[in-house]
Amino acid sequence: MYPDRVVSGMRPTGAMHLGHYHGALKNWVKLQSEHPCLFFVADWHALTTHYDDPSIIESSTWDMVIDWLAAGIDPSQATVFIQSKVPEHAELHLLLSMSTPLGWLERVPTYKDQQEKLADRDLATYGFLGYPLLQAADVLIYRASMVPVGEDQVPHIEMMREIARRFNYLYGREKDFEQKAQEAVKKLGAKRAKLYTELRSEFQQKGDDEALAQAKAMLDDAQNLSMIDRERLFGYLEGSRKLILVEPQALLTEASRLPGLDGQKMSKSYGNTIALRDDSDTVTKKIRTMPTDPARVRRTDPGNPDKCPVWMFHQVYSDQATQDWVVQGCKTAGIGCIECKQPVIDGILKEQEPMRERAQQYLDDPSLVRAIVADGCDQARKLAQETMRDVREEMGLSYN
Ligand code: TRP
Ligand code: SF4
Repeated sequence: MYPDRVVSGMRPTGAMHLGHYHGALKNWVKLQSEHPCLFFVADWHALTTHYDDPSIIESSTWDMVIDWLAAGIDPSQATVFIQSKVPEHAELHLLLSMSTPLGWLERVPTYKDQQEKLADRDLATYGFLGYPLLQAADVLIYRASMVPVGEDQVPHIEMMREIARRFNYLYGREKDFEQKAQEAVKKLGAKRAKLYTELRSEFQQKGDDEALAQAKAMLDDAQNLSMIDRERLFGYLEGSRKLILVEPQALLTEASRLPGLDGQKMSKSYGNTIALRDDSDTVTKKIRTMPTDPARVRRTDPGNPDKCPVWMFHQVYSDQATQDWVVQGCKTAGIGCIECKQPVIDGILKEQEPMRERAQQYLDDPSLVRAIVADGCDQARKLAQETMRDVREEMGLSYN
């Protein structure tokens, strides 16, 4: 019924590093050519933890958007925007908050985890508790079907699905729904109507997901249905409600295989990052001074790649022949560490070259970035307004 939209956001943390690229951005770039994608800066989400110092959010936002574009996010394919510029997210968040049980929010694992991890901040706030609900509004407002996220965010997506289901249950009631749905079935034509009815009972009685998918595909194909009848038939398949909000799926992004310079997770707070736009001298210096297997004190001491973070970089950047050369050379002390690091340096610089080029035009002319984002905000707002019109109507808040 709704297009296979992809929505994802990132909090504005400033310039991106290669961990962000390999962990998320690279996947976004791939997705933008496969589906309609909306990518946004979650600036309100940044406020949930940094409400006491919002001054860096704006500059971090621009730095981050430049890096998205540098990484290959193409504004002619994907919609790039800023959350707070689409205030409809906040309206939906508020409306959803009315019916969201407190327990659902308190049970989300990141709630306690983050409070413990960020113990230096007072996160016993209303806004912080609502973090995953705001996230739900971010996605549900576009009726997205897929949300590319890391593993830690999967419980948030699960909760979004429950929120959507509950909303449809509460507000998707329609007087005479059953009868109207039956009439819509007839409009499918005899053959399709029969198939629809069979698949519906197959799903409702046996929980056959295959039957559900087949019925949905059939509805997608049925040309002669009005929007509203189509919506009814989708809702009727799964129960006796209209589907106002869509339950999204998590698209699990593989964790980045690229660690930080010290072998830990790459993170600004560990000081072990390579920025997307680090210049070549900086990259070279960072890799040259990277720790290696401590067993290799002298050039003649053999080492073990499994104990060396440089090896993890080779696994991302080097081909099989180079990797064989590393393993062999390291274990027999046939190569030195500086020699071993050169292909990694070359690989990173090659990856960064087009990124630096793309970034340069935006650094030279920041108005380009402003225009891309303004355009993206307009597009996103239009979609968000469509959903909000339906939501208000179903909740009885249209005041026509
Ligand atoms: N919570 C996400 C993170 O910390 C950011 C985010 C906010 C998001 N809203 C979203 C991700 C909606 C996906 C969809 O990474
Ligand atoms: Fe690491 Fe390469 Fe040195 Fe072996 S030779 S310890 S893999 S840098």
